[in-house]
Amino acid sequence: MNGIPEEPADLLISTRDLDRRAGELAHEMSQELRACVRPPVLVGVLKGSTLFLADLLRRFDIEVEVDFISISSYSQAGGSSGVVRIVKDLESDMAGRDVVIVEDIVDTGLTLNYLRRSLSERAPASLRAVTLLDKAARRIVPVELEYSGFEIPDVFVVGYGLDFQGLYRNVPEILAVKDIAKLANDPMLLVDRLFLEK
Ligand code: IMP
Repeated sequence: MNGIPEEPADLLISTRDLDRRAGELAHEMSQELRACVRPPVLVGVLKGSTLFLADLLRRFDIEVEVDFISISSYSQAGGSSGVVRIVKDLESDMAGRDVVIVEDIVDTGLTLNYLRRSLSERAPASLRAVTLLDKAARRIVPVELEYSGFEIPDVFVVGYGLDFQGLYRNVPEILAVKDIAKLANDPMLLVDRLFLEK
């Protein structure tokens, strides 16, 4: 023991890399969706995708519309309940529209799998999905993913929209939590380190 407390989380993706990747993805999607007859609809999955969606949006160089959907998913680390249901549905009609689901992270794949099935039943002209983060090693169900920002290892991450028990969405970078059991014991653990020392 040297008396220096260990940092409870590591920097995984910097704001600079997040910014750069959002720009690249928006550029790629703008190119592919340019020919759409009506503006494509970006469907943000609440609440985790909000920062990513905002960063994508401002970089699209074609007209797009935005809608939001909210689904129940597990809020604790450690595993998905497998039960997914819509808590807040879309406001606009997706029939005939070119739709892009915007996710923060694909983990087991259960959520995106459910969303793709639910939205494809609404007769869109096309359906795509983009995720900021892909924890491919944890996949339970295979799911189609047209665009992905970063593939990450099997670690619990917070920041840039992603939360632990509703906290840490406003951290500007992506942090990998070192000891999830410790954080579960003291959810404010990172708050002290992140904000009080500044
Ligand atoms: P899936 O259904 O297992 O693919 O999980 C997708 C949802 O689980 C995401 O939209 C997140 O809300 C949550 N999730 C999975 N891994 C993490 C993580 O590392 N940090 C924060 N939330 C996560």
